[in-house]
Amino acid sequence: MSKKKRARRNGTIAALDLGSTKVACFVAKADGEGPPRVVGIGHQISRGVRGGTIVDLEEAEDSILSAVSAAEQMAGETLKSVIVNLVGGAPVSRTFGVEVALNGHEIGDADLRRVIEQARQTQTATDKRIIHQFPVGFTIDGSRGIRDPRGMCGERLGVNMHMVGASSAAVRNLETAVARCHLEIEEPIVPAYAAGLACLVQDEKDLGACVIDMGGGTTSFAVFFDGHCVFVDQINVGGGHVTNDIARGLSTPLAHAERMKTLHGSCIHSANDERELVDVPLVGEEEQTQANHVPKSILTGIVAPRLEETFELVRSRLEASGFDKIAGRRVVLTGGASQLQGTRELAAMILDKQVRMGKPTHLAGLADQTGGPAFAACAGLILHAHQKGTESLRPETAAAPTAGVFGGLRMWLRDNL
Ligand SMILES: Nc1ncnc2c1ncn2[C@@H]1O[C@H](COP(=O)(O)OP(=O)(O)OP(=O)(O)O)[C@@H](O)[C@H]1O
Ligand SMILES: [Mg+2]
Repeated sequence: MSKKKRARRNGTIAALDLGSTKVACFVAKADGEGPPRVVGIGHQISRGVRGGTIVDLEEAEDSILSAVSAAEQMAGETLKSVIVNLVGGAPVSRTFGVEVALNGHEIGDADLRRVIEQARQTQTATDKRIIHQFPVGFTIDGSRGIRDPRGMCGERLGVNMHMVGASSAAVRNLETAVARCHLEIEEPIVPAYAAGLACLVQDEKDLGACVIDMGGGTTSFAVFFDGHCVFVDQINVGGGHVTNDIARGLSTPLAHAERMKTLHGSCIHSANDERELVDVPLVGEEEQTQANHVPKSILTGIVAPRLEETFELVRSRLEASGFDKIAGRRVVLTGGASQLQGTRELAAMILDKQVRMGKPTHLAGLADQTGGPAFAACAGLILHAHQKGTESLRPETAAAPTAGVFGGLRMWLRDNL
């Protein structure tokens, strides 16, 4: 991974979203004024990724290459590096506090460096690769809610850090797949965090909201509060499981099951379900002579339990994490699988929250097709790089701090705290 960060606010930013169902590449231009403008898009069905894990490097490489080439061609530019979504790696989210002694002097950059470094040291003991780290608040002598402690005095300075670690092996596989396409990964990003950047409005980020990105093989979710992402998690259940359930339940080929799902699938029963019939071609039948007709209620009966299970899992993970209350009552759904009819209503019922559908905003140049919920995570990758600007707070740079790192922290504090 690159250790040196280049200017990001202006110029070209490229994002690669390697999903279980589709792979997408966006190339955007930022000129410092207004939102980044997408000037190149490539997307297609992905291969080599299943259940949010790379299962075949060669196939993954082919998928990445076709999406990247299409985006490059449209943008008229050859890419060298991309910001990518994390594929698999079972991300683990932790927020913890550490303190350093100040001996009563005025807090300066060096103290911030010390306390952030101390937090990093605490975390690097695990075998996980750290992929996100955000200071989410400072304390002075135990008093919380300090946004920028510089210039203040005290005995002890503390920082609350939110860190996300992912399995080193998964990150390396992702790096290998991308490197085989002669591209460098700037940073892997958890999809739900990216989707949140693309879809949430500032009030939602500040007051508390949970973004649930419903993909083909995974459902990843992120809690935002006080302007930061404070928790992420992921379960390996997605829209692909719904398609499989239909194919197995009705003995129909996967392609038909997928079509039936998008055309007639719903996770909420309605009054007409018994009377409405749906065509079901059977597996192995060449012609449609043997097509079955089943009431829509049977289809709903297959689809609904999977979605219920998904939201119940999300709810129990959120409750167990302690971030359920912090997320408030707001839920925003993104990802291709959120488009299933009735999903919003079912989520509202099971999570007992106000649910809205999200699609990428804050980016210019997205057409209808690529501006939908399935592209929220890809759009968010661009926004992450854009907002982060020229500097980085990554562990590699922390070891040898330079003025730039603290310029980055200043910018980070200004932009995010
Ligand atoms: N109109 C629709 N109704 C229901 N489901 C849909 C619809 N359109 C797409 N989907 C489902 O969305 C899923 C793909 O979503 P998405 O493109 O967000 O996944 P992905 O990013 O490739 O996967 P992942 O994030 O899990 O790795 C598929 O399971 C697909 O069946
Ligand atoms: Mg996805």
